[in-house]
Amino acid sequence: MAFATRHFVRAASSAAATAAAKKLIIKHVTVIGGGLMGAGIAQVAATSGHAVVLVDQSEEILKKSTKGIEESLKRVTKKKFADKPEAGAEFVEKTLKNITTSTDAGAVVHSTDLVIEAIVENLEVKNELFKRLDKFAPERTIFASNTSSLPITQMANSTTRQDRFGGLHFFNPVPMMKLVEVIKTPMTSQKTFESLMDFSKALGKSPVSCKDTPGFVVNRLLVPYLMEAVRLFERGTCWDSSLFIKLSIFSLGDASKEDIDVAMKLGAGYPMGPFELLDYVGLDTTKYIIDGWHALEPNNPLFAPSPLLNKLVQEKKLGKKTGEGFYKYK
Ligand code: NAI
Repeated sequence: MAFATRHFVRAASSAAATAAAKKLIIKHVTVIGGGLMGAGIAQVAATSGHAVVLVDQSEEILKKSTKGIEESLKRVTKKKFADKPEAGAEFVEKTLKNITTSTDAGAVVHSTDLVIEAIVENLEVKNELFKRLDKFAPERTIFASNTSSLPITQMANSTTRQDRFGGLHFFNPVPMMKLVEVIKTPMTSQKTFESLMDFSKALGKSPVSCKDTPGFVVNRLLVPYLMEAVRLFERGTCWDSSLFIKLSIFSLGDASKEDIDVAMKLGAGYPMGPFELLDYVGLDTTKYIIDGWHALEPNNPLFAPSPLLNKLVQEKKLGKKTGEGFYKYK
């Protein structure tokens, strides 16, 4: 009997240990922020059969988000179900049924497996949100941020679930871009990390893993490259920031922006030149990222701010979205 009891206790505790070590299979997802990224994430999660709650600040924004998702789904199905429009319509309807919306994050996270945050790129606001949701979400729930440039570790520290916290960095436009960077902080458990990797694969994405370092993989390489392109254009030119008199010392930079764009497209095979890409992304976004990294590492020359970029942002020439950046748009 004593043996049987000991055996039972050992078996029960090893079963508990196995259960604790088991990855969480993510079925229910709460996406906070229904903007450009959040709507895209909600769309791909719903398309792959997850139950999704999309949260934003007002019903009006949510209406716009769901309309955008519906239109995007219709575009996708038009190609995918070219010969079977009825099956396409059914697919859109079924996918939309997987998405519900709410303006109250605290009220909807009680049964969710994963919270993905895609709100404004501001650490204080994100920390505040995570701290609040930590009180409402069940213990099993994993929290993830889609931030492009902010430290995931600091967000994790605003909660009591540091081991169940990581980064899920999607790319724009989410339904088209295959990559997801899965970010592991020093506190992220292996179980959480594997659950996030599995979830990314379930969305049909190709995840890569990275530690919590500025810019992760893609932006850590891409942003300094874009800044170097601006410096190449600026070089040999003195920009007086107060009067903004452009004084040509030798010539207008080492190369013109047009030639730099052509060179990188034809010489490196990039689909867009750096100035075209800067205008597409938004000059304010790049400035925000580089200023943050410069504050963290002021002696790193790759993170040095650019007077020309600063000037364009100050003049609200932010790229395509404002009609003018490095180039003019109609
Ligand atoms: P966005 O401005 O299009 O959308 C943000 C949404 O969050 C808005 O609809 C806003 O109403 C909502 N929001 C703000 N505070 C909220 C709160 N406390 N609760 C609920 N909703 C709130 O921004 P976007 O471009 O979608 O970016 C979101 C996040 O994704 C940012 O952290 C950004 O750095 C990151 N990201 C952006 C990429 C891009 O290409 N735009 C690429 C990868 C990551």
